[in-house]
Amino acid sequence: MYVCVCNGLNENTVREAARKNKGSFSAVKVYETLGVKPQCGMCLCDAQNICNTEKQNAESS
Ligand code: FES
Repeated sequence: MYVCVCNGLNENTVREAARKNKGSFSAVKVYETLGVKPQCGMCLCDAQNICNTEKQNAESS
């Protein structure tokens, strides 16, 4: 499922990038890691929710 249609990012791509981007679980930072920038911004809430979940997972492990 696509999270960001503008940049063609699916959920797994965003989730993996959030995991690798230790110390920063900001959606914008994760997009930077992937070499893209938000365009329309419609995806940022969903992307941030994915990042928040990964942050919680990292903190609980
Ligand atoms: S859907 Fe992600 S920037 Fe437009």
